[in-house]
Amino acid sequence: MSLAVKPSLPARRLHVITRGCQMNVYDSARMADVLAPLGYAPAAGPDEADMIILNTCHIRDRATEKVFSELGRLRQVKMARAAEGRATILAVAGCVAQAEGQEILARAPYVDIVFGPQTYHRLPEMVAQANRAAGAVIDTDFPAESKFDFLPDAAAPQTAGGLTPFLTIQEGCDKFCSFCVVPYTRGAEASRPAASILAEARRMVAAGAREITLLGQNVNAWRGKQPGGAARSLAWLLHALADIPGLLRLRYTTSHPRDMGDDLILAHASLPQLMPFLHLPVQSGSDRMLSAMNRRHSADDYRRLVDRLRRARPDLALSSDFIVGHPGETEADFEATLSLVRDTGFAQAFSFKYSARPGTPAGGAPGQVPEPEKDRRLQSLQALLREQQAAFNARCVGLTMPVLITGPGRHPGQVMGRAPYLQPVHLVGPAALIGQEIPVCIAAAHTNSLSGVLKEKACA
Ligand code: 5AD
Ligand code: SF4
Repeated sequence: MSLAVKPSLPARRLHVITRGCQMNVYDSARMADVLAPLGYAPAAGPDEADMIILNTCHIRDRATEKVFSELGRLRQVKMARAAEGRATILAVAGCVAQAEGQEILARAPYVDIVFGPQTYHRLPEMVAQANRAAGAVIDTDFPAESKFDFLPDAAAPQTAGGLTPFLTIQEGCDKFCSFCVVPYTRGAEASRPAASILAEARRMVAAGAREITLLGQNVNAWRGKQPGGAARSLAWLLHALADIPGLLRLRYTTSHPRDMGDDLILAHASLPQLMPFLHLPVQSGSDRMLSAMNRRHSADDYRRLVDRLRRARPDLALSSDFIVGHPGETEADFEATLSLVRDTGFAQAFSFKYSARPGTPAGGAPGQVPEPEKDRRLQSLQALLREQQAAFNARCVGLTMPVLITGPGRHPGQVMGRAPYLQPVHLVGPAALIGQEIPVCIAAAHTNSLSGVLKEKACA
């Protein structure tokens, strides 16, 4: 009798620290997938790890300085382990790595690997090089090949993400908004092929997913190829995903107003799986600022787009991103943003003070707005947005909505769920409901969540 002997890999531990957006969360999981065949399993913490990856974000604020202070702490971990005779590979990934790769190696020579968001499919090679101690490895190319073509299938536990996973379908951005580093750190728009997306979605559903959120920096710029060569749009992809049995809900984020095609708007009318909640950043309500930001649409274009979306799906709620204090922004420009917010009505929003990013057109532009003025505008915008969010949540009270039960609640006998509008919902119910979408009558609204009762019972 002969036994097939599998070569055993040395047990190694990996610790990934993730900062920034959902794209980074997804990338971190895929880095773990890429390294699993080398024997890397998750570590309990950095001091247990043979390899530590710091996956960074460059979008706002003192990103680079934060990375250096975090690296300082990780250096201590590496030194403590070295004192015990254990080696640690320290890697910096993500957008700060892409933008400041050389500076990281110069200022933090104890870092072994620096790689950008486009090259992590080459991690095994980089790790091998680092292990050979051939000096620090840097890979911040924008390779001709797309990493989407080289990544292994996602390992179920890491990227399946349970009931409500994210699925990256598109990456990069060609829009070049004046303030934004993404086109420089993530590179040009690239779409993942439909077949690979559909296969990953099916695997996720087989592993228990009930709601999938399609991710991309410019997700509605996704394009697929038909066999004849013609382009397919995100609307086509959503229809194809909606056909997967067991997949109850779909979302996509983040969209650019310019890429909201007619067929995508129509998909909101025709696909019940598509949740009536859309994150559609507008950044400003002033035409002068929108033009300075290179957004290439006006405030009224945005208003008209929202009208069309609401005609397609009357119960649609919106979320958005805003920047206050972009160079050149006057009080009148800021007032125009407040007007757009009042006219539109948002269920939720993210608002930021403009933060100058080196290398971007707005970074060195004249008319930088003083910090205290930015603070004042941000506070006043956020007060209005908070009011709108509270009003929206209050309007949910008394409605019956389908809630996807996602896990146990805070107290025994309770479960937690997710409303169509993304609010967490607390309710009394058995754990057997986890994974099901059930009608819930919303009884009360809180700042960031709702509570409700199962529809069989009376609405409070
Ligand atoms: N300053 C402030 N906010 C920014 N964003 C992107 N770049 C900057 C910047 N330089 C915000 C935008 C974007 C969100 C992800 O982050 O609102 O939509
Ligand atoms: Fe940045 Fe604009 Fe591209 Fe969004 S659309 S990632 S804000 S450049």
